[in-house]
Amino acid sequence: MNPSPLPAQPLRLVVLVSGSGTNLQAILDAAAAPQTPFTVVAVGADRDGTGGVERAEAAGVATFVCRLSDVDTRADWDRALARTISGQDADLVVSAGFMRVLGPAVLAAHRVVNTHPALLPSFPGAHGVRDALAHGVRVTGCTCHWVDAGVDTGPIIDQRAVRVEPGDTVESLHERIKVAERAMVVDVLTELARDRSWR
Ligand code: GRF
Repeated sequence: MNPSPLPAQPLRLVVLVSGSGTNLQAILDAAAAPQTPFTVVAVGADRDGTGGVERAEAAGVATFVCRLSDVDTRADWDRALARTISGQDADLVVSAGFMRVLGPAVLAAHRVVNTHPALLPSFPGAHGVRDALAHGVRVTGCTCHWVDAGVDTGPIIDQRAVRVEPGDTVESLHERIKVAERAMVVDVLTELARDRSWR
């Protein structure tokens, strides 16, 4: 089958990060390649000093930080984040290692995909790798899904499996999962940019 023709306008992404941003880097690298049907218009973080924001700056991409400590309530933070994202004129928000639950204002105004380092619906939450290892599973992996009001509960878009090797630690297993996760995220975004029937 022929791939869908390239859309005239690249899909405009806002990527949210809390940490080192290797998933973001994979997205930025892919976006820099000719023929890629998406572009990163801004990168946002919930805290100062993230590697993700540094990576965005190095790539010449606009950044913003939306801190919970700058506002009185989580609802205020949710509305501030929704407004900031709206200012970027984005088509899609990507939560790529963003370690906060998004609130109703963001989710009402924006479609959001998240990447999670376990095979959902198993091991949701902030410690998916640790929990999978502690459970003794032999295969785990990563999941890309639409974000809804729950924690890692939205409709699944794609998954990749990763074997747990003897002697794996949380760190060694997470590193292998992240290799699969980076490829998955780029593939998912490419597909969502080519076929925009989800909009
Ligand atoms: C990823 O495994 C993501 O799924 C999880 O945290 C990790 C972030 O990695 N929530 P990075 O910041 O993209 O390197």
